Amino acid sequence: MYKIVRKEVLNQAVVLMEVEAPYVAFRCEAGQFLIARIGEDGERIPLTIADYDREKNTITIVFQTLGYSTKKMAELEVGDSFTDFVGPLGTPAPFHDDWKRIIGVAGGVGTAPLYCQLKELHRRGVECDVIIGGRSAEFVILVDLFKEICKNVYIMTDDGTLGDKGVVTKKLEELINAGEKYDHVITIGPLIMMKFVVQLTKQHDIPTSVSLNPIMIDGTGMCGGCRVTIDGQTKFACVDGPDFDGFKVDFDECMKRQGFFKQEEHECNLGLS
Ligand code: NAD
Ligand code: FES
Repeated sequence: MYKIVRKEVLNQAVVLMEVEAPYVAFRCEAGQFLIARIGEDGERIPLTIADYDREKNTITIVFQTLGYSTKKMAELEVGDSFTDFVGPLGTPAPFHDDWKRIIGVAGGVGTAPLYCQLKELHRRGVECDVIIGGRSAEFVILVDLFKEICKNVYIMTDDGTLGDKGVVTKKLEELINAGEKYDHVITIGPLIMMKFVVQLTKQHDIPTSVSLNPIMIDGTGMCGGCRVTIDGQTKFACVDGPDFDGFKVDFDECMKRQGFFKQEEHECNLGLS
């Protein structure tokens, strides 16, 4: 069993949990994910790792309460346990030794897995900036953590209740036009956001990686549920990703496939939600 040692409700829709999982904490790298389950018959929930602590043997996850299982998960308290916490899964984020200065671009709950990547890059001596976007002030998360590892933390809210008003691409464009130079951009958040980040960085020839989280079932390359098209080739996000070269991702196909099960996800056909 995997005991919850810390819980923070970050906003009405997002919960952070630190969980004892010695094997995952020992083996994982930034960019990888795990599959959590509550109860023997529980749904398998893939979650990109938000942080890990090899000394405390813990993993931090941050999740949005969207469907039946994540709502159940959010009801767990410190001292409760997950039945399964399987990982690390997927391929570590592809960092390059020649990166000197990068910028992360995060939207909503995607801010959490970006933290794990920037923390590791900061540890390696890479100068990091970050743009964090949210619908309004309460949806902007983990700002204080980013302040510890980033030189500049830019905040954008759709309604202007915190930071500057507008979406994250507005700030990224401003920075690029102001002459800021970055070796790489890492973006994690809604597909539509990552699509527009990539559209912008392509124009300026700044290599960009994205983290995809399509529907996953087994998380080991067996079911084909997480199929994505990268550079015209079929890849599985769970084993070939979740991080990919953003210039090569077929975002329109990803968005079409993500929308496919939306109705089923929100209207539980078992009458459980
Ligand atoms: P959201 O819809 O509230 O958007 C967050 C921010 O993204 C906005 O404030 C805005 O700045 C930016 N954004 C949204 N649409 C944009 C557009 N058209 N152009 C430019 N910027 C835009 O985000 P949410 O509801 O918190 O959802 C977060 C998303 O992150 C989910 O779709 C989830 O699937 C994804 N996610 C991915 C991972 C991963 O590992 N890949 C992990 C967690 C979450
Ligand atoms: Fe089944 Fe990736 S989740 S192949």
